[in-house]
Amino acid sequence: MSHGIKHVAIIMDGNGRWANQRLRPRVWGHVRGSAVVSDIVQAADDLGVEALTLYAFSTENWSRPSEEVGVLFSLLHKFLLRERRRLLANKVSFRVIGNVSRLPQETKTLIAKLEEETRDFNGLKLTFCFSYGARMEMLHAVNKFIAKNPGKELTEADLEGHLMRPETGNVDLLIRTGGEQRVSNFLLWQIAYAELCFTPTKWPDFTASEFKRIVESVSKRERRFGGLSPTADKNLPRPEVQSIHVQ
Ligand code: IPE
Ligand code: IPE
Ligand code: MG
Repeated sequence: MSHGIKHVAIIMDGNGRWANQRLRPRVWGHVRGSAVVSDIVQAADDLGVEALTLYAFSTENWSRPSEEVGVLFSLLHKFLLRERRRLLANKVSFRVIGNVSRLPQETKTLIAKLEEETRDFNGLKLTFCFSYGARMEMLHAVNKFIAKNPGKELTEADLEGHLMRPETGNVDLLIRTGGEQRVSNFLLWQIAYAELCFTPTKWPDFTASEFKRIVESVSKRERRFGGLSPTADKNLPRPEVQSIHVQ
């Protein structure tokens, strides 16, 4: 792809504040926010992004009132029902990562079915992070490795191979809507060299065109991965560089 951004991760934040600003209960923001998800999935597909990872519910979000948690569960369920045909038609490979054990059985069945149906698709890798926390994911990976390889030293590749969806790899671009500038326990391993973009737009107002603008503008940034820019020191006179002595 010409923009070079293969894996985009999004912290879909700001639903509650969006609703409260309109004198509506927080859950109204979640309802409106869930409608935006399909547009962004489509936009990612249009842009030729290989993987899109969406933060829908964190391990810490369990501390919210049970009514709000219940609405988020039912919105996930409705999303799966509503989007199934489109995901299948677009050959999207769908997975949910996180601890889904506390979801209602019928939602777990829907997830398992959709994951099974889309497993071998080679289109967009769409991942929903639900009841997900990066610390939990990393601990889980380490413990799985230790159980299989007692006494063996863990390498970076071992850890990466035991993450919840290893094939999506490192994140190239992390977007957070809603104005906060923090990562809130999201993909901590995978974002080591991600480009970060924090937009004040609250998730229910986020659009495919803003998403495309962000991808476009971030693709112009120079990523150095700890190395040097090809132009570094290029215009300096050689003798000056050589005469510097390190004490
Ligand atoms: C993001 O919106 C959705 C979830 C965290 C589930 P919030 O519900 O956090 O909305 P704000 O940040 O309070 O506005
Ligand atoms: C992060 O948003 C989690 C999701 C968007 C799912 P939060 O609203 O939970 O994060 P904090 O509490 O502002 O850090
Ligand atoms: Mg929030």
